[in-house]
Amino acid sequence: MSDTPDVNASTPQRVPVIAIDGPSGSGKGAVTQRLAAALGFHILDSGALYRLIGLAARKHQVGLADEVALAAIARQLDVNFVATDDAEEPLQVELEGETVTRLIRTDAAGTDASAVARLPLVRDALIQRQRDFARAPGLVADGRDMGTVVFTDAILKIYLTASAEARAERRYKQLKDKGMGVSLHDLFLSIQTRDEQDMNRAAAPLRPAADALLVDSTEMALDEVFALVLAAARASLGLAATVDQPA
Ligand code: C5P
Repeated sequence: MSDTPDVNASTPQRVPVIAIDGPSGSGKGAVTQRLAAALGFHILDSGALYRLIGLAARKHQVGLADEVALAAIARQLDVNFVATDDAEEPLQVELEGETVTRLIRTDAAGTDASAVARLPLVRDALIQRQRDFARAPGLVADGRDMGTVVFTDAILKIYLTASAEARAERRYKQLKDKGMGVSLHDLFLSIQTRDEQDMNRAAAPLRPAADALLVDSTEMALDEVFALVLAAARASLGLAATVDQPA
């Protein structure tokens, strides 16, 4: 029996969404990619949208505090996500026709993203665009407010976290593997600043949804986190009993 859920057959209007929120470096991105691949679901990398707004603002010389102009950028954002065969970089990201896949992943782009993400008009401008990613057979949505704001009716909400030290080390390794020069200490400071900003802003602050499953991955390997999240996802989709049954 296939374990790909045919949820649309019974609920034509509701596409199942799995929301994965948490701070920078918590492993959300990797877990999201593996989960989406296992379930055959689509992916929303909402952080990429905020990173792209920061990048577009720099490109068009719009100040990172100019809320009205940034919201206009968010509404008109000309972005394209193209699937690739590269497991490390499964999506090629294009902004206004230009490939920016690596450019949006720098630590500076993350800091710019966090600055524009504070602004309510920018967040509002992205809500519908994010919801439009929910297409059959389902969506795994990665971000800060997927479970609390954008997909409050998600069938499963995960809040993935880890100590700031562990997250800085993971980010360091990731960026180094991509050939991007960074200092571990600078990354640690930047993660702390970003946490502080994301958790304490008035608009959609980073926090677990009341009904989220909390996973602290400080002492866990990615495989363990993935196994736990996959089991929770299968249970939420009503698949648990049909998977891996002996013949
Ligand atoms: O996840 P990522 O590191 O790419 O996100 C970059 C920044 O975008 C975060 O630090 C956060 O400020 C912002 N963000 C957000 N809401 C989301 C996703 C990202 O505010 N749903």
